[in-house]
Amino acid sequence: MRKYFNVCVMFFPLLFCQATEKKTVESAFLHAEKQTKYMLEEIDELEKQNGKELVSPRSIAEDGNLKMVVSRDWTSGFYPGVLWYLYEYTQNDFWKQKAVEFTSNIEREKWNATTHDMGFKIYCSFGNGLRLTKNAHYKDVIIESAATLVKRFNPNVGAIRSWDHNKDKWDFPVIIDNMMNLELLFEATKMTGDSTYYDVAVAHANTTLKNHFRKDNSSFHVISYDPETGEVEKRNTHQGYGHQSSWSRGQAWGLYGFTMCYRYTGNEAYLKQAEKIARFMLDHRNMPADLVPYWDYDAPGIPNEERDASAAAVMASALYEMGTYLGKRGELYAKSADKIISSLSTDYVSPIGENKGFILIHSTGAKPSNNEVDVPLIYADYYYLEALIRKDRLENQRPLTE
Ligand code: GLY
Repeated sequence: MRKYFNVCVMFFPLLFCQATEKKTVESAFLHAEKQTKYMLEEIDELEKQNGKELVSPRSIAEDGNLKMVVSRDWTSGFYPGVLWYLYEYTQNDFWKQKAVEFTSNIEREKWNATTHDMGFKIYCSFGNGLRLTKNAHYKDVIIESAATLVKRFNPNVGAIRSWDHNKDKWDFPVIIDNMMNLELLFEATKMTGDSTYYDVAVAHANTTLKNHFRKDNSSFHVISYDPETGEVEKRNTHQGYGHQSSWSRGQAWGLYGFTMCYRYTGNEAYLKQAEKIARFMLDHRNMPADLVPYWDYDAPGIPNEERDASAAAVMASALYEMGTYLGKRGELYAKSADKIISSLSTDYVSPIGENKGFILIHSTGAKPSNNEVDVPLIYADYYYLEALIRKDRLENQRPLTE
């Protein structure tokens, strides 16, 4: 496909190339629909065996079974999100009905103040649902969730606390992933006119900008603060190779997070940081030619290390958006995103009827604990579909976000 795309760019008229690109999105969604129908059958079967409704699929367990999670798991919102994206692209009410069903299963999370993952859970599900249906109840859920999330903000630190686990290790851990939860807060201010949510999101982004990045624009995974003074106590990793290494999905969360923060604030410092992160990744000596990174840019066994398709999918989606803010220079980033999508769509898609219905294969969750290594992960599928929709919107000259 890559070879074909390059030839296409060099020799054929623009219209032909556009038609080919449109086909990439169309055929990817056809594949995604087939796989997701198969996954729904697998979930039905499991529910019959368990005698109860299960919430959301996350991955494939070591015994080969579909790994389902409860609503408090950080990944519970992605499957409803996948169903919403299928509805958005196909406009088929079957997908809407399924999306409504799976979204309602996680509503109770709006009261769960024990985690920072509220945005992942509620915005990917209810947020997309609200955007596509204007259902007023979804709006209430989002506002309630934002009110719950800001309870984790510490003004001394200027950030939202990420985790409550590992208290012996970290006093107040903030992980780069947490940037992704800010979208929910920005939206809550737009919905209510209450600037509290916006102010918390901006403070969190500014604190992250100040403390999470190294000179080469890569980021640490976990920064732990003194909750009284706000001083940085530790610069660590949890899912990366080492404290000084660059965990691939973490870099992608940062790129996506700062691009999204620029969308809501217009703060050029956020856009500049996003571009610096993109350059770190795209120019890295260990970035493979297909632009699907190894699980950590410093993994010791490269090139014999696992890839992380989820990091690539997050990166592609973010690059499409960032590109729209950078004028002519932005086209280069859209091209990089196209390349990622082309790689994922050819070499990282599951054969139809395999892998329990996941769309992509070859993602890595947490290599240091040997957990979810080289498996399908639901968030890879979610950001892959989001990136495809963004690609489609760009090709049809429609705004990427509404
Ligand atoms: N937020 C957890 C992860 O990216 O694995």
